[in-house]
Amino acid sequence: MQTVLSGIRSTGNLHLGNYYGALRNFIKMQDQYNCYFFVADYHSLTTHPDPKILYENVKNVITEYLAAGLDPEKSTLYIQSDVPEIPELYLLLNMHAYMGELAKTPSFKEKARKQPENVNAGLLTYPVLMATDILIHRANFVPVGKDQEQHIELTRKFGRRFNNFYGVEFFPEPQAFNFGTNLIKIPGLDGSGKMGKSEGNCIYLKDDPKSIEKKVKKALTDQGPTEMNQAKPECIENLFTILRVVSTPETVNYFEEKWNTCEIRYGDLKKQLAEDIIKVTEPIRERILAIENDAAYLHKVTKLGAEKARESASGTLREVREIMGFRPF
Ligand code: TYM
Repeated sequence: MQTVLSGIRSTGNLHLGNYYGALRNFIKMQDQYNCYFFVADYHSLTTHPDPKILYENVKNVITEYLAAGLDPEKSTLYIQSDVPEIPELYLLLNMHAYMGELAKTPSFKEKARKQPENVNAGLLTYPVLMATDILIHRANFVPVGKDQEQHIELTRKFGRRFNNFYGVEFFPEPQAFNFGTNLIKIPGLDGSGKMGKSEGNCIYLKDDPKSIEKKVKKALTDQGPTEMNQAKPECIENLFTILRVVSTPETVNYFEEKWNTCEIRYGDLKKQLAEDIIKVTEPIRERILAIENDAAYLHKVTKLGAEKARESASGTLREVREIMGFRPF
């Protein structure tokens, strides 16, 4: 059976981008694959979170995975820092990752620009840790959004390099995965390219209906089309992109038609968009509220997940150590 793995950093509540880019695809794969999904809490350390916030974030992310439909019986659901085999493999793989290639990774350059006062070594080797997450379970598919494509490409490179260096066929080549074929990017409501926590333009799975209506109402729009069939400006295309994932094809066609004939009313579009987002998020929100204070359940789930993840990870690590020449005397 082929293996699927994905994860989300514990930097805050989950938003629509996380859900449609990664989580929902993963949930749909739970019946056919050997599935691993985890909270990337080590990855969140690059920005030096307050310890109390780190703990709360990990708890929230686990809760929200479960509320969104991740089944801890079918999948292995775990916290990255519960698996000590990960930092060990990370150390080993770091020996085969080069300064030059890491420094020119676009995500590193962007982070270095955003936090010039804190360009730490963890930021530089972030792609190695991410490759470790994937390779440690020898995953075949990685459901992620468009922004992670380069990291999956680097993971393939590191895996291939290891195989070639030691003359083995050990790590498979993982593929970024999305059911809708192309990887997607959910845009923000502020006319910007991407919905993201650090961009502050998110609709969270935990948002209540009133705040979703408010956020959508405030979304950036323009004066409206002036010519038939004209191309949409970015802020309007963004609203349609979200509509395409949350609404039915009939609804999308209806508003496309209204756009093309210059009859669109943004108030109607926003009302429909908010309504359809709420249809997706409300059942998840209700489950979040039901689970979030169930400490015993969260403890049980994460304990079981850590055991299953360690079993798989330690098998890989044992073989890697042997391949590299670590043997007992
Ligand atoms: P992170 O935590 O930034 O995002 C988690 C997942 O959500 C997707 N995503 C989006 N997809 C579409 N549109 C958006 N606006 C949007 N925003 C976020 C991301 O593509 C991602 O799939 N480095 C990773 C976490 C990670 C990981 C891994 C993922 C660590 N190790 C191993 C997969 C496999 C990250 O920072 O994602």
